[in-house]
Amino acid sequence: MKEKIDQLAALNHQAELGGGEDRIAKQHAAGKLTARERIELLLEKGSFVEVDKFVTHRCTEFGLEKQRPLGDGVVTGYGLIGKRTVFVFAQDFTVFGGALSETYARKICKIMDMAMQLGAPVIGLNDSGGARIQEGVRSLAGYAEIFLRNSMASGVIPQISAIMGPCAGGAVYSPALTDFIFMVKDSSYMFITGPEVVKSVTQEEVTMQELGGSEVHSSRSGVAHFTGDNDMDCILKIRELMSFLPSNNMEEPPFIPTTDSANRIDEQLNKLIPTNPNQPYDMKELIESVADDHNFFEVQEEYAKNIVIGYIRLNGKTIGVVANQPSVMAGTLDINSSVKAARFVRFCDAFNIPLLTLVDVPGFLPGVNQEYEGIIRHGAKLLYAYCEATVPKVTVITRKAYGGAYDVMSSKHIRGDINFAYPTAEIAVMGPDGAVNILFRKELKKAEDVEKKRKELQDDYREKFANPYRAAELGYVDEIIEPSGTRARLIRSFELLANKRQSNPPKKHSNLPL
Ligand code: HXC
Repeated sequence: MKEKIDQLAALNHQAELGGGEDRIAKQHAAGKLTARERIELLLEKGSFVEVDKFVTHRCTEFGLEKQRPLGDGVVTGYGLIGKRTVFVFAQDFTVFGGALSETYARKICKIMDMAMQLGAPVIGLNDSGGARIQEGVRSLAGYAEIFLRNSMASGVIPQISAIMGPCAGGAVYSPALTDFIFMVKDSSYMFITGPEVVKSVTQEEVTMQELGGSEVHSSRSGVAHFTGDNDMDCILKIRELMSFLPSNNMEEPPFIPTTDSANRIDEQLNKLIPTNPNQPYDMKELIESVADDHNFFEVQEEYAKNIVIGYIRLNGKTIGVVANQPSVMAGTLDINSSVKAARFVRFCDAFNIPLLTLVDVPGFLPGVNQEYEGIIRHGAKLLYAYCEATVPKVTVITRKAYGGAYDVMSSKHIRGDINFAYPTAEIAVMGPDGAVNILFRKELKKAEDVEKKRKELQDDYREKFANPYRAAELGYVDEIIEPSGTRARLIRSFELLANKRQSNPPKKHSNLPL
């Protein structure tokens, strides 16, 4: 027996060495952790249970039959984050550059199938040269099997991808089908075709980082949601995100008790909105003020900053926040911000996360470029996402809510459950400047002192329309509240709505404007 146990220990040791000590040293020298070190950091100590540790590939071409490393370049299994089970796969760059084979894909599919059946999230730590070239179409088939499972699991269990090294070719599409993408500064990149191909096709010269590094994807393309400074930072951020999410679409998000009073008043909020309606302010101050312990976990912080999205807790419960940001592009909705917020709203709705919407929006961004790029189609995504959402929805209009953007931002008419406004709110078809120019063009032409007349007309319009009371008279705003008491009002509202049940008509699926 001892002999057999020793043999098992030797095989375990062999599997754990992956591509060997030299390659592990190379991985460390590149500032990266190994697949197993990453899993160790991600999960509670000692909780990881590995599956398929001794799986090997079946390729017999290009001399691969002589190299059959145990585990075949991906570490798969399950373990705990906090007290909850998650399934994990970590690609091992020390084995064939983490390249994906048929059997490697089967290992990933096996844990994805288990995760779906058990209702547990899947976290993929990607570090791979893509399809294993020697396996040909079998590795492409392997990717497709994963894509299918990503799509079937979408909206059922949270799927998280971390890009912790190269991620090239079609391999980027599995992460793209998941809910959140993390990247690591300087050591990770994602692209469909690398710099060499780009150069040969378009004559553009670009480095890997310039083409698909974390900065590009977190601020320009919007592909990535979070960036870690290094592997450890990235993994700690994944753990933090998980603390806000339920394990599956049938569960409520986790409850994290707080000592922060539900009745906490913040007098500073009464001074947050400037008297001059054109002066910007930082909406994040309001979000942080109302959140438990002032903790706001922002998503896509560097992308489309004119809208802010992320998670807070209110009296221990996860809330998804969508907020216009008046300090960036005056908080207008453009293509990127609409798509960013739409995807977030749909994720929250799929996973029973109530939505708080903070509104200060002068409208959709006008411009030839926006029209040509399809602001109509993309803006419709956000509108659609809010219309479709059945989770509890609470809205606070802090200042401007003009035109179509008023409707879009979780208005009463598209099933906002509780809609508040501050006394500073201005709810109208458009702002005073535009309205006066259109309504009083003739009067302005005739006026002796045009600017004086314009100001008079604008003041009159502001008094009549640029306030929350017209909307309150019609019941489109449930209550006008003092800003200092916002936290208490929100907590009471979400507690009231906790048992809300609403459903949409039965259908095969919707036809979201894509
Ligand atoms: C087989 C691969 C491999 C691959 C790397 N290796 N990529 N083996 N298939 N796709 C091997 C290398 O031969 C090398 O083996 C080891 O992994 C480490 O690779 P290096 O090149 O030495 O490392 P580095 O210099 O860090 O460069 C990493 C890299 C580069 C940028 C990822 O290896 C690379 O460009 N690989 C090819 C990427 C690619 O084009 N993949 C296919 C994409 S198409 P030895 O034994 O020498 O150490 C695709 C289709 C997806 O993925 C299908 C979905 C629809």
